[in-house]
Amino acid sequence: MNQVVLTGFMGAGKSTVGRILAENLALPLIDIDTEIQSKFQSSVTEIFARLGESVFRNEEHDMLMQVLQQEAVISTGGGIILSPQNRAKLQSADFVVYLKTSPDIFLKRLEGDTTRPLIQEKSPEEIKILFDSRTQLYEATSHLVIETDLLTPQEIAKKIKKEFQIRKEKS
Ligand code: S3P
Repeated sequence: MNQVVLTGFMGAGKSTVGRILAENLALPLIDIDTEIQSKFQSSVTEIFARLGESVFRNEEHDMLMQVLQQEAVISTGGGIILSPQNRAKLQSADFVVYLKTSPDIFLKRLEGDTTRPLIQEKSPEEIKILFDSRTQLYEATSHLVIETDLLTPQEIAKKIKKEFQIRKEKS
């Protein structure tokens, strides 16, 4: 299927790379967080605060199931790999790319962020512990890992497109 799923920790650049890649592949971009926010007419922060994280996670799961039916570039939230059901689904998806970004870089990008409830009032060390607890899950659910630290979003999108085309030719 004409589909690429982007995973990675908060601040890894999934949305930015997703936009460029979608344009390069002439596919629509679906951002799971954006879809959930539109459905609830609320920000992720508000959904967490009013309804709780578990409601958000259920929505995230349902939305993943829906969007995996579509030909698109799909940008996921950093916690998509927490659910075993989501992991199983990602493992059987066509092409999942993990954008692997070092803590030094994502911590800088996340500095002063007020839109991500899970990192509010967390120290950089605590955020790094959260990242470490997820690393193996991102790796286990991806078909391609891209170390993003030294690459521009354009270069990352180009690499993904190249690999996507190779896989398509083989299939
Ligand atoms: C989360 C990541 C966020 C968003 C929510 C929870 C997480 O998405 O889904 O705040 O658990 O890592 P981004 O990775 O796009 O920031």
